[in-house]
Amino acid sequence: MKKFVVWAAVVAGLLIVSAVVYFSYFSAGALRSPVRMSAVQSDPIGAFLARHWVYPLPPEGAPPKEYTALEASLAPESCGQCHVKQYREWRSSLHSRTVGPGLLWQLPLMDQQSANRCMRCHAPLAEQKALMATEYGWSSASSRPHPSYVPANLFHEGLACAACHVRAHRRFGPPALTPVSASNHLAHDGFTPSLAFEDSRFCAVCHQFPESGTRLNGKLLENTYNEWCNSGPGRAGQSCQSCHMPDRRHLWRGIHDPVMTAHALTATLHLTVLNRGRVWAEAKITNTGAGHDFPTYVVPEVVFTLQLTDPHGRSKGEIARTIVERRVNIDLTKEEFDTRIRSGESRILEGEFRRPVGIGWSVALNMAVSPGAHYERVFQYALKHTAGLTPKSRRLLHEALRQVKMAHYDVTLARTDIHD
Ligand code: HEC
Ligand code: HEC
Ligand code: HEC
Ligand code: HEC
Ligand code: HEC
Repeated sequence: MKKFVVWAAVVAGLLIVSAVVYFSYFSAGALRSPVRMSAVQSDPIGAFLARHWVYPLPPEGAPPKEYTALEASLAPESCGQCHVKQYREWRSSLHSRTVGPGLLWQLPLMDQQSANRCMRCHAPLAEQKALMATEYGWSSASSRPHPSYVPANLFHEGLACAACHVRAHRRFGPPALTPVSASNHLAHDGFTPSLAFEDSRFCAVCHQFPESGTRLNGKLLENTYNEWCNSGPGRAGQSCQSCHMPDRRHLWRGIHDPVMTAHALTATLHLTVLNRGRVWAEAKITNTGAGHDFPTYVVPEVVFTLQLTDPHGRSKGEIARTIVERRVNIDLTKEEFDTRIRSGESRILEGEFRRPVGIGWSVALNMAVSPGAHYERVFQYALKHTAGLTPKSRRLLHEALRQVKMAHYDVTLARTDIHD
């Protein structure tokens, strides 16, 4: 009966169903691992990653007998009892929020198989998918109680520590920076070090589509690793981790963070006084600090403007404007434009204006960022057009829209006073 209800909703929302599945911009082709199986002998890191990120991840199984309940637990909070710093940082990061309202409202409109595909990146552990199946009453949900090392909220914890670090209850991590002190009892029987954790391909598993993935205008919809390979930082061997996990910190700041985003850019702003009281303004924005296109995804929208600013800091008119975005339509069938700034490249904003009377006036180069602009359009569309939305889905959709709007921010990158 439950199954029927889901399908009825799906059929009723025929048009929307295709949109729902595309909403997240991924197709089945995206699900194959970018890590090639062939290069096993010559490439131990590639071989490790192919094993570590096998799809789907198998269940962890029974914990080793010598483990305490705390060591066996897959709960991020349990890891956090001993790894206090990583836990605190991860909690503040988007990786702990990969199962949010933007994802959840869609699940009742999907079948288990499609939902599982999304979880490859959003909540990859087998234990998380089992909890999801129970929550949505999918037919193949196990009727057995979940084992004690699986906390009830593990699905909602998103990209949990264990997804990156635990296989068959064994810990894997980067080589220790300081020698591990020999004691009678190593926590969780120690760990297996692998350089794969320091390699950009570790991140590519979820941040790069394979060659067979969805393309628009000839370009993969998600292409961060390839962009990185061709970028200045990539060619200089600066890994994703070196920028997004400096000192191994678990923050993963990106386009949602004003400071991180400003770091991607070097901006200059020059004014030239012309005759007859006119002034010429020219700004140059260069992508010097992102190890990929600025921005890398089809999701954010960044608007740069040159603003004439009065002595009180109020904007008194726009001199120039440019949008930096890879804009795609809602159902991901068309790229409307791609004005992203490639690594090392620049964008110029320029314009002429009448010099205002009085002192204290300036020109500002401002940047308005909507980190989730594509999703904002998708959520708005879905609220209007999705058939068969349950009241709960509708509430989640409103919440998702609220969150995506709240993420907007403005930054002043440069300001130059107007002199004679
Ligand atoms: C998205 C994958 C991912 C998640 C999720 C994740 N980590 Fe990590 N972790 C890494 C990577 C990659 C490194 C190595 C970074 C480097 O070497 O630059 C690492 C390093 C570590 C280290 C070694 C730190 C050091 O200073 O030597 C510990 C301990 C650790 N993680 C624990 C955790 C805990 C606890 C959580 C959850 C609260 C967690 N990790 C979540 C990917 C992850
Ligand atoms: C290949 C990995 C991958 C797969 C598979 C995937 N996603 Fe995502 N998803 C991402 C990444 C990476 C982002 C972050 C994009 C950004 O911040 O610009 C994201 C962001 C999102 C967001 C916006 C952020 C939020 O939490 O509201 C939604 C909604 C979403 N995905 C839904 C889905 C759905 C639904 C599916 C399955 C149909 C899916 N995703 C499959 C990697 C993936
Ligand atoms: C009882 C305390 C304790 C708990 C609980 C615990 N750890 Fe650890 N972990 C340690 C200690 C101590 C070390 C370093 C010594 C060792 O190898 O055992 C360590 C090492 C690690 C490393 C290797 C760090 C490196 O240098 O690469 C990773 C990764 C890790 N733990 C992840 C986790 C994750 C993920 C969890 C939760 C699923 C967890 N740990 C739970 C105490 C703990
Ligand atoms: C198992 C899949 C997975 C892996 C592995 C992974 N990520 Fe992510 N990452 C995601 C998803 C899903 C999101 C989207 C979070 C959201 O917005 O809901 C994300 C978000 C991010 C963001 C936030 C961007 C923003 O919008 O501000 C950054 C930065 C990031 N990841 C970097 C990394 C780096 C660096 C690594 C490698 C150490 C990595 N990720 C490994 C799935 C993954
Ligand atoms: C040289 C530093 C640097 C390197 C290397 C780097 N990034 Fe970034 N990344 C940034 C900065 C700065 C931003 C914020 C501006 C932006 O969004 O482009 C960012 C943003 C992001 C975002 C936010 C989403 C978006 O649309 O921009 C993701 C996801 C991300 N990086 C993943 C990665 C991955 C995966 C790698 C490795 C393949 C990587 N980054 C390599 C600096 C770096």
